[in-house]
Amino acid sequence: MKKLGILVSGRGSNMLAIMDACKTGKLSAEVSIVISNNRDSNALTIARDRNIKTAHLSSITHPDVQFLDIAMKETLIDNEVDFVLLAGFMKKVGRETLNAYKGRVLNIHPSLLPRFGGQGMFGIHVHEAVITAAEKETGVTIHLVDSEYDGGTILAQRKVPVKINDTPESLAARVLEVEHVLYAETIQKIIDGSIILPD
Ligand code: GAR
Repeated sequence: MKKLGILVSGRGSNMLAIMDACKTGKLSAEVSIVISNNRDSNALTIARDRNIKTAHLSSITHPDVQFLDIAMKETLIDNEVDFVLLAGFMKKVGRETLNAYKGRVLNIHPSLLPRFGGQGMFGIHVHEAVITAAEKETGVTIHLVDSEYDGGTILAQRKVPVKINDTPESLAARVLEVEHVLYAETIQKIIDGSIILPD
């Protein structure tokens, strides 16, 4: 059984969708650790309620960014994590962690990358930008994480229509429904070999 380490900052709905997919068997994996940079994150409460191990790692616990990166890597390794999943994680992953988990760190982004990605493009800001640009469709991207924001190899994308009266919030809700399905589906495809990760 593959082990997942989930990195979260906030609400944690994608994390929860992955936990549910593991529980129902849609995803043949288990979540071995949830790590957050935000000790007040709702996601940590959800994980603890489900008896899943959690860790708070941030500039409060590790003021030196290099030590923070090493602590992240060691926490993942100690918990025998095979794949690292960013699920609304709003910090960059450090070089040590990326090197240790090369090609095995995934992120979910609420647009059709490379459109509406990059620094400052996260959460509701993405949907605001999509509406401002009068796009007719947006979507969800699952991609590998490298040292650039939203820059790594794209593994899966799914389109979502933008409706004429959409607000950023209504669009975010429609996109989120797809996020909750596509992330688990993509991880399962990696596990069963129908998506082959680049070396
Ligand atoms: C999700 O929409 C996710 O795609 C987005 O943050 C939200 C987190 O929600 N991530 C990014 O924008 C990354 N650049 P959640 O905490 O409920 O999963």
